[in-house]
Amino acid sequence: MSDLYQMAVDYASRAYAPFSKYLVGAALKTSTGELFGGCNVENSSYGGTICAERTAILKAVSEGHREFPEILVFTDSEDPWPPCALCQQTMAEFMSPESLVHLANKKGVQKTLKYKEINPYPFKL
Ligand code: THU
Repeated sequence: MSDLYQMAVDYASRAYAPFSKYLVGAALKTSTGELFGGCNVENSSYGGTICAERTAILKAVSEGHREFPEILVFTDSEDPWPPCALCQQTMAEFMSPESLVHLANKKGVQKTLKYKEINPYPFKL
């Protein structure tokens, strides 16, 4: 998991967050073992902001990947952040109930949850 942690830390440093000032990084592992990272990218029209998790997921999906057994989210806060509801919903397409979500801050990974613990009733068509 240290590979995901280091990647998420590196991506957080690339965050574009002039409004909230929260630098968030995410790194995921695909079912074939490849890693993808992302950061949050804010917008003057606040609703246009995209979170770090969704950046990483969209990058991986657009490269042809569909299954993500593990994702790590890093931000420099005392209590590490769980993915927001929009990111949880995006995860619902590509993560199984048993997939792991690691929540990390500068002290390291503080909590690891199964996706089903974060979002037990994902909306699915
Ligand atoms: N943010 C993320 O990147 N991931 C989350 O799951 C929650 C929020 C970002 C969006 C925005 O740039 C900043 O954190 C404050 O909401």
